[in-house]
Amino acid sequence: MKISVIGCGYLGAVHAACMAKLGHDVVGVDVDERKIAELSAAKAPFYEPGLEELLRDVQETGRLKFTTDVSAVAGSAVHFICVGTPQKIGENGADLTYVDAAMRTLTPHVLPGDIVVGKSTVPVGTAARLAAVLEKNQPSAHLVWNPEFLREGHAVADTLQPDRFVYGVLGGSEDHIAVRVLDEVYEAPLSSGTSRIVTDHPTAELVKTAANSFLATKISFINAMAELCDAAGADVTQLADAIGMDDRIGRKFLNAGIGFGGGCLPKDIRAFMARAGELGADQALTFLREVDAINMRRRTRVVELTRDLCGGSLLGKKITVLGAAFKPESDDVRDSPALSIAAQLQLQGAVVTVTDPKALTNAARRFPELHYEADCNSAIKSADALLLLTEWHQYRDLDPYEVAGVVASARILDGRNVLDPAKWRAAGWIYRGLGRP
Ligand code: UDX
Repeated sequence: MKISVIGCGYLGAVHAACMAKLGHDVVGVDVDERKIAELSAAKAPFYEPGLEELLRDVQETGRLKFTTDVSAVAGSAVHFICVGTPQKIGENGADLTYVDAAMRTLTPHVLPGDIVVGKSTVPVGTAARLAAVLEKNQPSAHLVWNPEFLREGHAVADTLQPDRFVYGVLGGSEDHIAVRVLDEVYEAPLSSGTSRIVTDHPTAELVKTAANSFLATKISFINAMAELCDAAGADVTQLADAIGMDDRIGRKFLNAGIGFGGGCLPKDIRAFMARAGELGADQALTFLREVDAINMRRRTRVVELTRDLCGGSLLGKKITVLGAAFKPESDDVRDSPALSIAAQLQLQGAVVTVTDPKALTNAARRFPELHYEADCNSAIKSADALLLLTEWHQYRDLDPYEVAGVVASARILDGRNVLDPAKWRAAGWIYRGLGRP
């Protein structure tokens, strides 16, 4: 099928490449010339495992092109909208400027019978508004809301083999013509057993925000338990293992630590609360305010624990932060708890060096005042304390005996509870975890 993808950021670039991989003829459109030049040269503008190989593979087949010229979408039967919906500056709500602009520039090129598919995460009600815009310009085209659930670091696999598809169509009927067209787009994953649910527009929009809110709640729940474990001298990791054995609860997303960050969970729960307020249903989501507050409290807690670890004062202490990305296998530092902690420590008088295998360029752009060191060994040299804040495998695998010979003082705070405390203590380290005795 001929497919266009509007917006070539995390979501769009991966989606375009994966649609070409599924055998479709794809054109990706973005207003950012640098991004388009990089993608056209099969270079990913961000770090995502497997993406560059995929871009190279599919571009060799001639099935994938990128351009800044939106008129190139003409002739595509399906148009995916994959632009960002960041948090508004100074407000909780989502900024829909890019979604509206994408729709505005796309509609003149939409032909009768075309399907426009929204993938961006939007406040409930947006699809109905955009459907009206589309209807005015091209009455015989259809709008589907088809939320994307990909995780950074697993984006290619999540797109090629997602765990479900949600199609939100006008009226929510299985018989809607757009259902057949989307089934054709996703024929390969559907035939290998991926489930799909057909809903109306608002349900599809809500599925995405509800899923992210649930994940955020799960993380904040276990982080609240970590606070209690700290107070009671219990171990949150064992607690998570034990409650996670109940498959109604499940062990996934119960890792206590410095909390969630990134370009999705924090802004999505805030936009959800803002939208609920507009709908007069704010009470339903007041618990998300607490989820957000527990999450932000993790960062202050780590600063206090680090002060403690350093003997009561941060002034002049050399602290090395292992990890800047909001999670491993990513170079994304948007709302990264690791970087936010590093910046707070520096503000309170510590001399902070940050290291990360992939995210240093983005980190330096965001917090130029911090010291960055790409080489892990040089970064930890002479440190008064180490903080493991993003659980890259190279930090999980550090040998406590070897590292003890490099640092000035063998003190470590494990912000992700991924190290073996007994092993580190046996090697002479003062070890602190979060919610671990
Ligand atoms: C998330 C959703 O998982 C995805 O479905 C959605 O499409 C976009 O938002 P992503 O932001 O890539 O994906 O990251 P995710 O893997 O969900 O992690 C989010 C944050 O939670 C990270 O900062 C991670 O370190 C943290 N986290 C995750 C925990 O602190 N504990 C956990 O147990 C799991």
